[in-house]
Amino acid sequence: MGLKIIGMGKGIPSLSVSNDDLSAFLDTNDEWIRQRTGIESRFICTDETLTDLSVCAAGEAIKNAKLTADDIDLIICTTIMGEYRTPSLACCVAERIGAVCPAFDVNAACAGFVYALGTAEGFLSSGRYRNILIICAEMMSSHADFTDRNTCVLFGDGAAACVVTEGNALRYVNLKCIPNIEVLNLPVGNGNNPFAAVKKESGYLFMKGKEVFKFAVNIVEQEAMTAFEKLGISPADVDYYILHQANKRIIDSARNKLGLEESRFPVNINRYGNISSASIPILLCEMVEDGRIKKGDTLFVSAFGAGLTAGSVVLVWE
Ligand code: ACO
Repeated sequence: MGLKIIGMGKGIPSLSVSNDDLSAFLDTNDEWIRQRTGIESRFICTDETLTDLSVCAAGEAIKNAKLTADDIDLIICTTIMGEYRTPSLACCVAERIGAVCPAFDVNAACAGFVYALGTAEGFLSSGRYRNILIICAEMMSSHADFTDRNTCVLFGDGAAACVVTEGNALRYVNLKCIPNIEVLNLPVGNGNNPFAAVKKESGYLFMKGKEVFKFAVNIVEQEAMTAFEKLGISPADVDYYILHQANKRIIDSARNKLGLEESRFPVNINRYGNISSASIPILLCEMVEDGRIKKGDTLFVSAFGAGLTAGSVVLVWE
């Protein structure tokens, strides 16, 4: 049994922060950020919580699926950290939308949406769940060090959601972890445990940018070729390559390797920056809203992130 997406929605903070806004307090500039990343602005939370963004996205997705919260049988949230360490973000959303069903979080960093689709497919195939709400929500501004120009300029905040049910849209899923903690991580401290051998402090998001860049460029091409071989299709059979929005140069490099035109590689990183697991579903949601994605379109969706995780799906839109 496969799945299809029957409704999507998004929740975006109201404040858009430009590169010039960052250069007002950081040793950076618009030209460097645009040229190295493709980012022009990003949305950053002010008074919105991660649950607020998630509830907004979930509400739109449920409405667009022509359902109510009572119809939702399972909630899966993807996030690198919810509003609380515990309960999960999925439980926070369940409370706010009035859903009475199992709810849990998945942390696969930027590959979260792809991991959630794979997880949802497994639950649907059990036959015990009919409508699954997936929410991908990240508040990267609370994990970035705003004194570190190497990282904070890259990220933004936001959420997207979709309702999935039984269908044939999902034709291929591949989830991976190629363990490498050192190049990309967000350290958690050990509190005030008086017995701890070594005191550990919580930290900010740490990244060896060049190493992640190299990994990303190679993994997207590898993932695409593996998927196409399995499905017996060629790169030109894919209408849209919906890739993790981490850096426009990574997307361009993948496109050059596959030898395809720019119009097949939609981007919104210029307006949103990198929102980890929320990046891909926000882009997908925008493309559904503006009518770019049509029934029968073949989508190759591929992401990579801390772990290092990676994952790809092929969807034929229903
Ligand atoms: N403004 C101005 N200068 C800057 C800035 C900035 N914001 N940031 C770095 N620089 C400087 C550096 O200090 C360095 O200066 P130096 O040569 O005097 O030392 C110079 O610019 C070049 O820096 P590099 O790190 O070599 O720049 P690079 O071209 O590698 O780009 C970047 C850096 C954008 C981070 C790139 O490596 C990248 O996109 N990596 C991948 C990131 C990614 O994909 N992350 C996804 C995972 S995130 C997650 O999973 C949560």
